[in-house]
Amino acid sequence: MNPIIEQLKEVPLFESLGDAELEALSQVVKLKSFPKNTILFSEGDESDSFYVICDGRVNVGINDEDGKEIILSRLGPNEYFGEMALMDGEPRSAFVMTKDACKMMIISKTDFKKILSSKFDVMLSLLKELQRRLREANKKIESLALMDVYGRVARLLTQLAGGSDPGIQIKDKLTHQEIASMVGASREMVSRVIKDLTNDGYISIRRKRITIHKNLPYNW
Ligand code: CMP
Repeated sequence: MNPIIEQLKEVPLFESLGDAELEALSQVVKLKSFPKNTILFSEGDESDSFYVICDGRVNVGINDEDGKEIILSRLGPNEYFGEMALMDGEPRSAFVMTKDACKMMIISKTDFKKILSSKFDVMLSLLKELQRRLREANKKIESLALMDVYGRVARLLTQLAGGSDPGIQIKDKLTHQEIASMVGASREMVSRVIKDLTNDGYISIRRKRITIHKNLPYNW
């Protein structure tokens, strides 16, 4: 069995494609590996490719003028990125950097547009994902505008853990700097919040992995 077809079958975006369509797509996909911490492209770059992650995770983010980084999202296996600039013809809306060693399937702009124009279900799936990401971005705006850093960190940890049941652990290893980049706060402030949450028994940390011990309130 063609390993690229097997990989394509795992990707929710392509679940509506039949065998012949998957076969045709597999002919135009390029598999490429990237080491950890590779910048795949920067905000403002011209675009020519669409990326689907096979293995590893990436950070999607933006930098302000002083080089301060905000992480907008973290994407993992069978998720994708790079569709926005291909569809609206604008420059890349964010940078994407590998967080682990990654394997990607890369599809050219021309081939990506061919799939979109011939397969309505793929377009619909893309729209649904766009809406999910917009809802997520709305929540982020809400937390930046209305919550203090305690609330933002509490919300992020609960989201990354997938809940706040006692004993639930966040799979990703996180540094204070990464948490700071995700919640739009300084590393020093995040370190203070994490220390307080640990001292008050809300969380514990072992080898950079955070375990939640009791429900983290968003309003302190
Ligand atoms: P593009 O603008 O081509 O390049 C950057 C990519 O990052 C973008 O397409 C999307 O695929 C992805 N992206 C941008 N903003 C977000 C976000 N808020 N959440 C998740 N992914 C995003």
